[in-house]
Amino acid sequence: MTVDQVNGRPVADPHEAEHFVRQFHRETGRTDSLGARLSAVRREIAETGGYVHTPEELAFGARVAWRNSARCIGRLYWRSLVVRDRRHVTRLDEVAAECGEHLRLATRGGQIRPVITIFGQDDAHGPRTLIWNEQLIRYAGYPSVGKGCTGDPRSLGITWLAMRLGWRGRGGRFDVLPLILQSRDEGVRLHELDPGDVLEVPLAHPELDWFGELGLRWYAVPAISHMRLRIGGLSYSAAPFNGWYMGTEIGVRDLCDTDRYDALPEVGRRLGLDTSSDRTLWRDRALVEVNRAVLHSFDRAGVSITDHHTESERFLKHVAREEAAGRSCPADWSWIVPPMSGALTPVFHRAYDETRPRPDFHLDAEARRRAQGIGVLPDCLCAAEALEG
Ligand code: ARG
Repeated sequence: MTVDQVNGRPVADPHEAEHFVRQFHRETGRTDSLGARLSAVRREIAETGGYVHTPEELAFGARVAWRNSARCIGRLYWRSLVVRDRRHVTRLDEVAAECGEHLRLATRGGQIRPVITIFGQDDAHGPRTLIWNEQLIRYAGYPSVGKGCTGDPRSLGITWLAMRLGWRGRGGRFDVLPLILQSRDEGVRLHELDPGDVLEVPLAHPELDWFGELGLRWYAVPAISHMRLRIGGLSYSAAPFNGWYMGTEIGVRDLCDTDRYDALPEVGRRLGLDTSSDRTLWRDRALVEVNRAVLHSFDRAGVSITDHHTESERFLKHVAREEAAGRSCPADWSWIVPPMSGALTPVFHRAYDETRPRPDFHLDAEARRRAQGIGVLPDCLCAAEALEG
């Protein structure tokens, strides 16, 4: 058996492989071919340490990984995921071009569609391709004297890294970051996205005319790009996937978390609220208006977005459908319940299955570090240089 040179492990876990092959045949009604496929996979693993998914297994595995995403409230449409099998693509300029094509297919002028693009599986030497960015589209964050940060503070590390690699950020609040890609042959490379592939929505409010003056905006397509897709004992380290946004992701977390865009103080002031004490609930009131602006602006721009009330009901429908299909639905209450008005939504008032089945999307510590821009140099050096600007 060929084993991993580094840690002496085979590439695919035979038990997981077998479990997946059985699941695939059972759920897709191909029981006739199960025996033959099982022996082929067993043989391949015994001879090479790994095996290769058929295109159908790959597509099924990716859809089930979404179905199993315990933190995702939007799983009702898991079957509709468009799967782009790009396992043969390894050159980084081609990887970057495929990411651009992914965004075009997913965006469709605003009628957003869930898509995943899957690059080559890890082999005995580890990942072939890595995307360092946590999402294909993210805004840069620059250290700034006095204000702490211009742009998205979450991107401070990766912005610093991009600039070390030669990127020239314009220093704005909403500069789209370049992709930072890595392969074994080419090392780490920067690739700019084509601005035409990045749909953005400037934010305005249905009644408050001044809201547009805040200059807030957000991008249309959330495409997670640093998670590892695990199917049947194999690992795909580069497999960016997207859905459409739920308004609160932008309106509560991205724009109003104090360690993100922290928009509430200004919105509260502009609303003329008494901001002297939390007990006036000025933050709660301002938060509602930011979220109305997000939903209104996406609707006005013709860009798909869901709200937390609708999506909570859809999610419970999904849970019921899964149960009707004889499966239970893994879910993490603390992620499923929306970050505002939790108890107004039905998902708040119940408990969920805490098992975590595979196929799944997995975020390992290394990927998190890369997305924070702390993979190349010692952390202390990164932190110090990021602060210096
Ligand atoms: N919460 C993340 C963000 O605000 C996006 C996560 C994925 N969201 C989705 N609707 N598929 O950027």
